[in-house]
Parts: sequence; structure tokens; C-alpha cells
Amino acid sequence: MNAVPRDVTPVSGTAPSLGDRLWRRLGGVAFGGDYNPEQWPAETRAEDLRLMAEARVNLVTVGVFGWARVEPARGAYDFSFFDQVLDDLHAHGITADLATMTASPPPWLAHEHPEILPVTADGTVLGPGGRQHFCPSSPVYRERAALLAERLAEHYRGHPALGMWHVGNEYGCHIPACYCDVSADDFRRWLRERYADDVEALNDAWSTDFWSQRYASFDHIRPPRVAPTYPNPAQQLDYLRFSNEALRACFDLEAGILRRVTPDVPITTNFLMGLKAVDVFDWAPRLDVVAVDSYPDPHDERPHLLPGLVYDTMRGAGGGDPWILMEQAPSAVNWRARNAIKQPGQMRLWSWQAIAHGADAILYFQWRQSRGGAEKFHSGMVPHAGADSRVYREIAALGKELASVPDLAGTRVRNQVAILLDWNSWWALELDSHPSDGVRQEDRLLDHYGPLFDLGVGVDVVPPSADLSGYALVVVPNLYLLSSEDARRVTAYVSGGGALVVSFFSGIVDEHDRVHLGGYPAPLREVLGVRVEEFSPAAEHETFPVRGYGALADLEGVADLWREDLQLAGAEPEMAFDSQGWAGRPAVTRHEYGEGTARYLSTRLDAATMRAILGRALAEAGVTPVVAGLPAGVQASVRDGAGRRFLILLNHTGDKHDITLPREWTDALAPSGEGIDVVTLPPSGVAVLRAVQ
Ligand code: GLA
Repeated sequence: MNAVPRDVTPVSGTAPSLGDRLWRRLGGVAFGGDYNPEQWPAETRAEDLRLMAEARVNLVTVGVFGWARVEPARGAYDFSFFDQVLDDLHAHGITADLATMTASPPPWLAHEHPEILPVTADGTVLGPGGRQHFCPSSPVYRERAALLAERLAEHYRGHPALGMWHVGNEYGCHIPACYCDVSADDFRRWLRERYADDVEALNDAWSTDFWSQRYASFDHIRPPRVAPTYPNPAQQLDYLRFSNEALRACFDLEAGILRRVTPDVPITTNFLMGLKAVDVFDWAPRLDVVAVDSYPDPHDERPHLLPGLVYDTMRGAGGGDPWILMEQAPSAVNWRARNAIKQPGQMRLWSWQAIAHGADAILYFQWRQSRGGAEKFHSGMVPHAGADSRVYREIAALGKELASVPDLAGTRVRNQVAILLDWNSWWALELDSHPSDGVRQEDRLLDHYGPLFDLGVGVDVVPPSADLSGYALVVVPNLYLLSSEDARRVTAYVSGGGALVVSFFSGIVDEHDRVHLGGYPAPLREVLGVRVEEFSPAAEHETFPVRGYGALADLEGVADLWREDLQLAGAEPEMAFDSQGWAGRPAVTRHEYGEGTARYLSTRLDAATMRAILGRALAEAGVTPVVAGLPAGVQASVRDGAGRRFLILLNHTGDKHDITLPREWTDALAPSGEGIDVVTLPPSGVAVLRAVQ
């Protein structure tokens, strides 16, 4: 593959980053998938290589579940099978994202050391026979995993096919936390470190005077196992933090070895869409390239929204760098109750969607659909029917299509709007015994993300600690846990001229899940110009009419889920509740603060009303859609850099749409050099346009 010029600023100094090296090696947008050749005989593997070349595959993840084959008995390493695989891949110009093979310990390890098996909060020991059956704190598991990673690194150091290391696989997917005695010991060690060996500091942070939980010693602390009633929330929160770090320690251990033995080989691991257990913002700086697995449900009403949100989070976590769509299904998955196929064109559309959000690699799980095992009904790029199939034809066509625009890779997505997301807040938000169990992180994020998508603006999802100064608008959906320091940063952003939108149940507790006192949301009261004494969550199907004020007098909507009897302390109302007993009480407020403005939403607005409010905030902040006047459900994204500029149009609807464009664009997929007036997008259609230089 020829390298193409890339607009990637090295992370430090002048040396290209390791991620940059990978991208240079791969050239254009990479294409491929998980390749599990150990499941197939030699003649099938020979066909694999032929078909991969035909489909323009240039990157495959190999060996994710290879441990039992390369170490069939303790210490009896045998890499001969994968030697052949890597040699063959190299001979066909395909780069290997070689797994450290530690995601599924071999049967002999669980047999010799049953203490590595994970335990749930109710004490159930999870047996082998599936995968990921290890306690992340287990010294035995860690030792065997480290030995394997070291042997692999030494063995494959310098192999020409080795382009990247794939550490573990989807950490935390099946075992987000383990509650065994080994984990309990590790938790106590972690707490001693966190609270500087001061049990009084822990008592304070965990509010242990409540329910007589005061600890006399760290030795008395256990994981928050199943208890007669709600376990201490600060203890639960710390356990989520600890579990994230226990998993991260497994990653770090292997990554440290790989960096020592093969310092030139970039390292990744694959995050998973919607996974709460792993704090992506915390892990991402440890990876050379961010990678994610994305499995939207084609049965969903708007299946593209959650992936969009996740992709914007991945780009945010990687500081805007290109990222890898490490896994998606070529068609159906096997693990939902009803597994919808991707309809013709949908796989192509959703692959281009990832590119529109900044991905430079489109990969799948998996190359060839398994014949046996739990995932035999999970689609593959080469399905059971073989290459003479719709799925393979669509795959091969997309591979060729991506290869036809190599200089798209390396361009960047740039947005003016940020949504704040914080894993600590997500963990705390979804603990028990809250005013309403309806305030769930992902749904509330989508309440904000969906209308912004409909308004045609791109979004970066970033943590509250990010540099916000470059954003015209910052949206804060239900950021329940907010440290005083982060609240000050958000406040400073507004006083410096930024525009802010904050939704209810934000800024409620500190990092120990202790309420910020003096009226909610205490650390944001000043910037928002409001004060709340009491929450008033709605019954399950209860709704409240809302109505606009002043310029918004014509705006009528419906809210649900939550409301608050808001006191104005400097803010002006923009909308109010309109139901008996609540008529005139503010539902949406706007506050001019310093050089900027801050809006507060004390309820959950219906999507159309949310669009109206966010539309006003965007207009005030001077943010315009990527392309004005697009039909609902048609997405536009621009990727640019190094003198190149692309417009990607995605039709997420079932209807055909004609999109009128200024003639500065040409077709990037069928280049004729002709300026284009109108693009016709069939249902699920994609257009990739190149700016006329
Ligand atoms: C995850 C795993 C893969 C496979 C797929 C199936 O993403 O990483 O090994 O199990 O799910 O959807």
C-alpha cells in the first residue's frame, strides 16, 4: 500500500506518533475484520486470502481467542500455527493487528487455578466454558497473561505483518467487576492508596455515620456485595472506579511489556459501544489508536443515533485523531432476542457513518462466519452461504469503494459544539435510591444528541476536564456528579463568552456522591442564575404541558420525567409549565453571565421543543448546520485537512432525497471532475463529495 500525505499533528515533539505510523503504513481508509483462521482447515484459509485480496482487506485482527492453541498446556508455547498465518497475511500485503490472546484463558488454567474465576455480587462463581472468565485482580491470571504477552512480543518482534497490538478484547464486556475475595483484598489495597491509609478520610468520603457504617480499619471493608438493602453509594461508586482500574491494570501490564519489547508497534484495545464499566476518557491516553466495537440494532427506530454519539465520544477521547471501527456486524448479530439483518445498503451506510465521524478504519466481527460455537449465527464478511452471497458482495464492493478514495484518510472532523460526558458521573447517576430511576445516562445523552443531529450540527463528546475554549456551545446533559473544580471550569467558559445548556439533575453531588449544599445545583447556581429546593419527578407516564415566553410565545410542547419548582436568581424564563398548580413556573431559563449565556432545562422536553431551544442556543452562538435545509434524517459531515475537503451525505431514511448543493463539489466515488448541482440519495444512500480545489 502506498502511504498518502496525512494531516496528523504528532502528539509530542516532531517525531510521528505510533498511531501516525500505523496510519502511514495502512495508507487509505483501512478495511478488514477479526480473522479467526484457527477455526478453519488449510483449504478454507487459502480461499480466505484470495477473497481478502479481492475485497481489498488490508488489516485483520488475529488471535483474539488464540490462547488455548498457542499455550495448550502451562508453558508449552507453540506459535507455529500463527507463524504461518502471519507469513501468509504478509505475503498478501495484509497488516496484522495481533491480539495478545488473553481475553479467554484456556481450560487448563481454570482447572489448575479455579481461584481465577470471577464471582458476581451475589457470590455466584462464573465457570469456564464461555470466555472472559477471569477475575481482573487475579495475580495468577495476570502472571499467565503477562508471560504470554511477553512470549508473543519476543516471538513476533520484527515480523513484517505485525502492524499493531490488540491487547485483551473488550475489557469489562462480560465481567465489569468481580466480587471474589482476591478482588476484596485488591479493593482494600486500592482504598488504602486512595485515602492515604487514613480510614477517617474514607469514613468522611463514604458518609459512614449514616446507618452505623463507620469503619475502624481498612481490613473490615468488603466489596459492595448483595446486602439486606442499598449498599453505601460512595462505596459502590468507589467499587466502580476500582473495577475500572483493575481492568486497566490488566491492560497496562500487557501494554508495558509490549512497549518494552516492541517499542515501535502501536497498541490498541477495543472499547465497546454503551459499556459503562470502562472509562474511555481515562483509558484512551494509554492507547496509540482508539478503537471501538459498534453494534446498532437494525430494529431500532433511529439506529444511527447511538453509534453517532459513541463515535463522537471516541474521537473526543482520542483528541480528534482518527480512530478504528474495530468491530461491526456485516449483517445480523446472534446475541439479541431477535437478531435483525442489515438491509441491503445499511452496512455500507453505517460504515460511511463511522468515517463521517472520523474513523479511518472499517473493520468487522468477523471475517468468516463460524461453523460451530456460540456465534455461528452471527454474520461474517464471508457468510455460511460463501462468497456467492449478498453480504460478501456488499463487503467486497465497499472494500473497493474505500480503496478508491485513499486521500480521505487523514482528514479531520471539526465541530463547534461539545457535549460533556463523565464516566464518574455516569456511574454515580445510575446508583440506586435516587429521586427517579428514569434518569439513565445513555437515554438522557440521546435526548440532547438526537435534536442536535436533527439540527444538522456535529458534536464532540468530551469530559468536563477538556479544554472548552474552542467550542461555541457546550451542552451538559444530566451531569449529576460534578466536582467544584469542574464546575468552576464550566463557569469560566461561560464568563469568557461561551454558551452553555445544562439539563436537570446536573451538579448535584461531589466526587464522593455527597450533595453540594445550599440549593441545587449548588456549584452551577451562579452561572445558571437559578436555585432549586426540591425535585419533583414524574410518574411513569405523566406529562406536563410547557409554553414559551416572549419571542417564544408560540412554542408549545410536552415535557415528562422530571420537574422542579425553580427560583429565578438572575435568569429569565424562556419556557414555563402550563399545567394546573404549576402554570407559569419556569421550565427553561436563560441567564447572561459575564460575556456568555447559560440556559437551564428543569425538565425533559419533547424532541421538537428541545430542537427549538437548542436551535436558539445554536443561533445565538453563531453555529450553523454543516449543510442548511437538509431533509430530516439526512446527515452531512465535512472532513478536511492538508488541502483536502470532503462532504459526506448519509441518508438514514427509507425515502429517496434530492439534495441541492453549491457547485463547489465533485463526486469523490465516481470522479468525473464535473461540478455537482443535485445529489440523489436513494434510501440508505451515501454520497461522498470532494471540494473543488
Ligand atoms: C464482541 C466481541 C467479539 C464477538 C462480537 C459479536 O464485539 O469482541 O469477539 O463476540 O462481540 O458481536
